[in-house]
Amino acid sequence: MKLPLVFYGDPGLRQQAEPVTVFDDKLLALSRDMVETMHAEAGIGLAGPQIGVPRRIFVMEIPPEMDEDETGARLNPDLNGPLVVVNPELLELSKNKEEMEEGCLSIPDIRGKVRRPVSVTLRFQDVEGRQREMRLQDLAARCAQHETDHLDGILFVDLLSQVKRVAIKGKLRKLKEQTLQS
Ligand code: NI
Repeated sequence: MKLPLVFYGDPGLRQQAEPVTVFDDKLLALSRDMVETMHAEAGIGLAGPQIGVPRRIFVMEIPPEMDEDETGARLNPDLNGPLVVVNPELLELSKNKEEMEEGCLSIPDIRGKVRRPVSVTLRFQDVEGRQREMRLQDLAARCAQHETDHLDGILFVDLLSQVKRVAIKGKLRKLKEQTLQS
């Protein structure tokens, strides 16, 4: 089932999400709905707070063609299909950082460059509660950081340059008004 999205201005996007402690069929059903919603919205990641669930869970899926180096080799060969990430921790963030344009399903029509570490280790639990760890590169690493930020009430627009933040101020204010009216 596709779930309705929560948009910029909703206070739920600014909350600290709570850890997941129960790994049951309800969590499995939620993760499936989140994947379906991510696909329907053509996103590469979706976090709990974006569908009004204040829990530490996100889903991500990087299309293979967006996960290649210059030679066409996969950057993250372990990533196949949608990944369900519960209670994530980001470790060993690389010193090497890169700036790249981001967007967010909860902040339509706004994009901007965010500087982030190029690789990270993502430690998390899968939907059955098993501990897992993955080293991620490039877009996958960026996506994992963007989604983990959502669980801490942080949005990519918070991380833009001062100049860019001033430039989108009006658009954000409009979006917030729309959200609060609906
Ligand atoms: Ni987002």
